[in-house]
Amino acid sequence: MSTTKFASRIGLIAATVGSAVGLGNVWRFPAEAQQNGGAAFLLVYIAWVFILGIPAMLVEFSVGRAGEGDAVTSMRNIGASRPWQRVGILGILAGYMILGFYMVVAGWTLEYMWQSITGALYSVETPGQPLKELFMTRMDSYIGGTWWPLICTWGVIILTGLILANGVQKGIERISNVLMPMLVVILLLFMVVALTLPKAGEGLAFFFDPDFSALSPQVALNALGQAFFSLSLGMGVLVTYASYFPKDTNLTRTAVTVSGLDLAVSVLMGMIIFPAVMSFGLQGEEMKGATLVFVTLPEVFAHMDFPCFWSTIFFLLLSVAAITSCISIAEVAVVWVSDRMKISRKKACVLALAPLLIISGACSLSQGPWSDFTICGLTIFNLFDTVSSNILLPIGALLLCVYVGWVHAPGLMKKELTNNGSLRCRMLPLIIFLVRWIVPVLILMVLIAGFI
Ligand code: PHE
Repeated sequence: MSTTKFASRIGLIAATVGSAVGLGNVWRFPAEAQQNGGAAFLLVYIAWVFILGIPAMLVEFSVGRAGEGDAVTSMRNIGASRPWQRVGILGILAGYMILGFYMVVAGWTLEYMWQSITGALYSVETPGQPLKELFMTRMDSYIGGTWWPLICTWGVIILTGLILANGVQKGIERISNVLMPMLVVILLLFMVVALTLPKAGEGLAFFFDPDFSALSPQVALNALGQAFFSLSLGMGVLVTYASYFPKDTNLTRTAVTVSGLDLAVSVLMGMIIFPAVMSFGLQGEEMKGATLVFVTLPEVFAHMDFPCFWSTIFFLLLSVAAITSCISIAEVAVVWVSDRMKISRKKACVLALAPLLIISGACSLSQGPWSDFTICGLTIFNLFDTVSSNILLPIGALLLCVYVGWVHAPGLMKKELTNNGSLRCRMLPLIIFLVRWIVPVLILMVLIAGFI
């Protein structure tokens, strides 16, 4: 059983929020919000965070803290039969798939940060060339290359390994304690700048003024998928982190804090992006994933004074968000390997991360030289993204909720949420009701929507 614990409550929150806050908040959330009606999406998203996110998070926390191990070991330790332990394996598999493409994007971010520092990203070679075209060409050449994106991706893998090799307190917790406050400061700085832009009001109106006619079942389902990915649910990351929570941690309060902060970062991102694109007349542009971050935002910065400065700190923000999420996903595999093979954490880091050199490498190349190679019409990169987010994560969370809500002897959540009876948890009946009846149905809906 694991005896490692987070050293402080602040460190515990920083690490868990570090896992939740990532590319999902910075580039996925604003894009989803824009495509799904702005404020209407935001309202549904907030509802899902509370109805689905917090109960599903509490299920993972309960299993992890009671089981004191990685996703598979925790299930075994709380008495799950072999087939149920495989839920943990599913999580590890999903983790490799997510890391496969996530580390590639983290690599691009590092590359863009470097190109911003040197100024190469903003150097204009053909005077009069439209900015959009300039940044499109740059994106194609930076992301679509062979060696440089590959080297950056491998750099992220090595960085993740180096952090994890230092262990829970000296690695994960220490780095989160430094990086998370940095992320908050950068976010607030951007918010002040964005809110003083000429058309800030119009941007905010799009984001905060709900047009209920934009609501549709599809919007609701997209918001659900987003909540899921953003809160790091469904692949055992939160089970593993919860095994490092001390026994007196108030799980309900922690889940509310983590979900609230994750939501706050997404909302802040909306308050930054919408005023910015509105003020520079870029609202008609495509805001999907890569284009938003690597084309539209550089265009915004190019219109501002000191573009290289703003661009550098933005990509620093994105790198920080991505790295703290990468370490959380990789941690699940690292502890599992170390536990199963009875080897040291350092060796486990090497063994668990080595396959990523190939998996992420393939994802990276599939954006460039291998882009013609597709499976079911998807490049390797898109296939991993779709299969993990739309299929494996929802299945993982669904099975975990069904196990805890229906299969495991009743009382696990009561014991964990009340710290063995020493804490009052007035929300307990509501949480258990949500876990048994509402969360599984909602997750099934996301799954089905993913297939049609
Ligand atoms: N929550 C992270 C983000 O928003 C991604 C993630 C998914 C992390 C699943 C861990 C597990 O970017």
